[in-house]
Amino acid sequence: MLVLGIESSCDETALALVRDGVLVDAVLASQADIHALFGGVVPELASREHLRYMGALFDELMRRQNLSPAAIGCVAVSRGPGLLGSLLVGTAFAKGLALGTGCRIVGVNHLMAHLLACGLGQELSFPAIGLLVSGGHTSLYCFRDEVTAEALGRTIDDAAGEAFDKSGKLLGLSYPGGRLLDELARRGTPDPALFPRPYLDNPSLDFSFSGLKTAAALAARDLLAGISWPRPLERAEDAPQELCDLCASFNLAVAETLLAKTRRAFERHPEAATLLLAGGVAANSLVRSTFQRFMAGRGGRLCVPSPALCTDNAAMVAYAGWIYASRGLGHGLDFETVPRGRRVPDDMALTPAEGRAGSAPC
Ligand code: KG4
Ligand code: ZN
Repeated sequence: MLVLGIESSCDETALALVRDGVLVDAVLASQADIHALFGGVVPELASREHLRYMGALFDELMRRQNLSPAAIGCVAVSRGPGLLGSLLVGTAFAKGLALGTGCRIVGVNHLMAHLLACGLGQELSFPAIGLLVSGGHTSLYCFRDEVTAEALGRTIDDAAGEAFDKSGKLLGLSYPGGRLLDELARRGTPDPALFPRPYLDNPSLDFSFSGLKTAAALAARDLLAGISWPRPLERAEDAPQELCDLCASFNLAVAETLLAKTRRAFERHPEAATLLLAGGVAANSLVRSTFQRFMAGRGGRLCVPSPALCTDNAAMVAYAGWIYASRGLGHGLDFETVPRGRRVPDDMALTPAEGRAGSAPC
């Protein structure tokens, strides 16, 4: 089955084709440069850009693959959580396509799509613990199988990626700062005592990263004032050693905090032997190597997407859609789009092989 995936939950407009679980092609328009001017994503601008690019990217993908829309067996779209206006551009496009061609439609939980992306190119084994670390979310799950996941914990304030981006901004790094901070960290030597490992002194599997940006501001004041920093920094080669060392300490604090809670999740679910690690922060070199070591030490398996498939993309949405559709699951045209902060309902239903179940009148 050929599945078209559509992603527009934040600041990337992306479409991808997956055939029988294998990625065929993908197109993406990033808005990062536009939002960098404002130091963060501006929701109204994001939805306007999605609107500008969605149709053109679809045409490009069809042209490149020499396909007509009728070849699409299922359209899978990120339905949330995310920026509502942005999500609506993608879901409206997907619903129009399903209505016009009669293909199956699946509204995909963006968070599950991130984690299921671990299965692109490798076989996943279950039960598994899932750790999602992105710009908007930091959550732990226990997966019984690909479609059944129990939420174990989540951040009570900032997400890990948000901590990277906000701290990066304080340090003069251009938005989003996570990738550059990681690059600087690789040139530095960490001080394990410089930053706290937040929110570990409790039995929960929740996270709290908002304090780390305050700690980053204080550390910058104490350690970087002597070199007249922060100054705007675009390129890693221009970074002073003091900044690289601070970034290395920050990276270590985030990686060790994520590890402590994940270790706890495995202790509570000893039946799980696999870790699915996904989301933009899963592209972080120290996070990847930390969890690689941890899972090797347990005799378990780490499944993590390639760095390009860690951040928002449509391949993960198409792949998740393929998993659901190949189990006969889908939606009618009346499924809801879910803004950030609201739970995505578990409302997929068995649908006939052709067409949609329970389509609402339009
Ligand atoms: O998954 P994603 O595209 O966004 C959400 O769905 O929320 O993740 C974007 C986040 C940003 O916060 C970005 O700074 C962070 O992932 N990120 C990184 C790295 N690459 C991207 N954080 C740390 N190290 C990286 N190498
Ligand atoms: Zn995402």
